[in-house]
Amino acid sequence: MRVAMIGTGYVGLVTGTCFAATGNNVICVDVVKEKIDNLNKGIIPIFEPGLDKMVKSAQERGNLSFTTDIKEALQKSDICFIAVGTPMGEDGSADLQYVINAAREIGKYMVHDMYIVDKSTVPVGTGDLVRSVVQEELAKRDSDLYFDVISNPEFLKEGNACQDFMHPDRVVIGSENPKSIEVMQELYEPFIRSSEFFVTMDIKSAELTKYAANAMLATKISFINEIANISEKVGANINKVRRGIASDSRIGYSFLNPGCGYGGSCFPKDVKALIKTSRQYNYEPELLSSVENVNARQKMVLVNKVVDVFGEDLKGKTFAVWGLAFKPGTDDMREAPAIRLIEELTKRGAFIRAYDPQAMKTAKNFYLKDIDNIMYIKNKYDALDDVDALIVVTEWKEFQSPDFMEIADRMKGDIIFDGRNIYKAKTVINHNLKYYQIGA
Ligand code: UDX
Repeated sequence: MRVAMIGTGYVGLVTGTCFAATGNNVICVDVVKEKIDNLNKGIIPIFEPGLDKMVKSAQERGNLSFTTDIKEALQKSDICFIAVGTPMGEDGSADLQYVINAAREIGKYMVHDMYIVDKSTVPVGTGDLVRSVVQEELAKRDSDLYFDVISNPEFLKEGNACQDFMHPDRVVIGSENPKSIEVMQELYEPFIRSSEFFVTMDIKSAELTKYAANAMLATKISFINEIANISEKVGANINKVRRGIASDSRIGYSFLNPGCGYGGSCFPKDVKALIKTSRQYNYEPELLSSVENVNARQKMVLVNKVVDVFGEDLKGKTFAVWGLAFKPGTDDMREAPAIRLIEELTKRGAFIRAYDPQAMKTAKNFYLKDIDNIMYIKNKYDALDDVDALIVVTEWKEFQSPDFMEIADRMKGDIIFDGRNIYKAKTVINHNLKYYQIGA
């Protein structure tokens, strides 16, 4: 099939590349020329395991190309995906300017019938909006070309996006048009284990499904974080409580890890956008607001623990921070708990020695560029030299079974604050280190 992908961000690039991997002809479009030039040279703008190899082999086969020319992409395709960003606007709602712009361009430049598929995460009703914008542009040039708008939300996890795409839990298609559903079924055929994982529904339900899925997952995290906070107060151990509840198959183990708050490009933005949408329809979403509030508070939990031990004034104190990315397997720092932590500690006078396997460049150039009291260290053990304590913020694999002797030797102090509960308390304590976790 002939596919155009508008937007070569995280979602567009992964989706386009995976469709090319199953033999489709894919053209990815982006307005940023430098990005397209780089992609044509095989330089991938993001760190995502396996993606570079997949791009390269599709380019070699000749069925994946990159261009800034949307006209060319529309000429050479029958299905056009919109996979542009929907950043959070100032009032918390999703900013749809890039989606609307893409729809406008499609209406302006399409030269034959077209299936327009919305992959971007968009508020309920955007499918109708895209349809009317395309219609408006076609009317301006007296064209009666056929098009249909389909919603097809993505559920990719950063760090595992290619795998997730190739082996999805489900594919959701928002369309009530049998021909459109058939086209989508054909496109997704290689990825679907059985027909029950190909879920079709009306556009609005598909749009809401994406927000509902992310809101549910965010709720699980805020729930376990709240129980962790209670657990700590009453002298219980959240790690035990978690096992106690998760072994009930109705509850389950996944997404019940307590921590220092969820981050990333999806949960914070999507929970906010869903709250906003609900309010626009005069419904006050109490639960979602609480999910958000608990998360904001959770980002302070490590700071509070440090302050409890060292006091409000942290002048002269140095802390090693292991992990800056919002989760392992990515260099993404959007809404990462490390940002707030480092801002709060340095504000109180502390000095930070930070190490992350992937995100140090992003931190230095962007998210923490205004912080002076920080040094980026190339090795996790070197980051420990002469520090008062180690703070673990992201559970990268290489932090999971460290050499505790070396940790104890290198540090001036004897404390580990663990924001992800990745160690056995006994092991840490046996090395004469003090161990502070979340909820235990
Ligand atoms: C998420 C959804 O999982 C994905 O389906 C959707 O398409 C986009 O949003 P992603 O943001 O890549 O994916 O990361 P995810 O692995 O879901 O983690 C999000 C955040 O939750 C991270 O900050 C992570 O540390 C935190 N988290 C996750 C917890 O604190 N505890 C958990 O048990 C799980």
